[in-house]
Amino acid sequence: MIVFDRVSFSYKQRQVLKETSFSADFNERVAILGGSGEGKTTVLRLIVGLIKPDAGRIFIDGEDITDKTEDELRSTRMKFSLLFQEGALFDSLNVKENVAFCLREYTKMSEENIDRKVMELLKIVGVEHAIHLMPEELSGGMHRRVSIARSLAACEPRMFLYDEPTSGLDPINSDNICKLILDLAKNNTGFIIVTHKVSDALKTAQRFMFLKNGMLAFDGSKKELMQVDNADVKEFINV
Ligand SMILES: Nc1ncnc2c1ncn2[C@@H]1O[C@H](COP(=O)(O)OP(=O)(O)O)[C@@H](O)[C@H]1O
Ligand SMILES: [Mg+2]
Repeated sequence: MIVFDRVSFSYKQRQVLKETSFSADFNERVAILGGSGEGKTTVLRLIVGLIKPDAGRIFIDGEDITDKTEDELRSTRMKFSLLFQEGALFDSLNVKENVAFCLREYTKMSEENIDRKVMELLKIVGVEHAIHLMPEELSGGMHRRVSIARSLAACEPRMFLYDEPTSGLDPINSDNICKLILDLAKNNTGFIIVTHKVSDALKTAQRFMFLKNGMLAFDGSKKELMQVDNADVKEFINV
């Protein structure tokens, strides 16, 4: 479970979160919605301890991670598969080497086991045929799939964290990535999808949060979202 207890966070003068509280179980399917710059990415970075709150506490799986050191955070980070916003691959490495990179970095696996694991991960995301291609040879959708495979490497995720997983993709590829997100959640591993696209959130999530002015202006089910009174949320979901 993830617990934010009155978390505040600022980048210099810019206050991004103001005493924000919520909790989410690892098996939930959550969408964090909000306009650009409202702090969606910040929430994900706080969950994995890449940044620390100015005030408030963050608990992961019952452990207070707020004051943990980088070393202590390793085990916390292993609980999440985090797909970064740009999902960037290393341009100079082929698909196999990109996915293997994290395995080499974070595990002591033999080369033979790394080969096997890379193939397994690429199969999960449906791009095993692209194993020897370079990033520049991949379509947008394939590129995103490889990024997801890479974020899956070297961890046994209790939860997936996706930061704008369909940004820059055409509607068909976006839809396919949403399907992949649902497929990966099938064995009861939940996810948080951060997105400014309402359609992606509706396709994937069961619980919806809306960030506005550093606060959670909404947190509820799809049905509740459709009947929302809050004018900001209403405006956002109607676009
Ligand atoms: N490294 C940073 N340094 C300073 N300001 C930042 C940094 N990262 C993000 N911000 C600012 O913090 C706010 C929230 O950012 P972010 O969480 O990335 O929003 P979102 O993901 O919702 O677009 C934005 O106004 C952004 O400009
Ligand atoms: Mg963002």
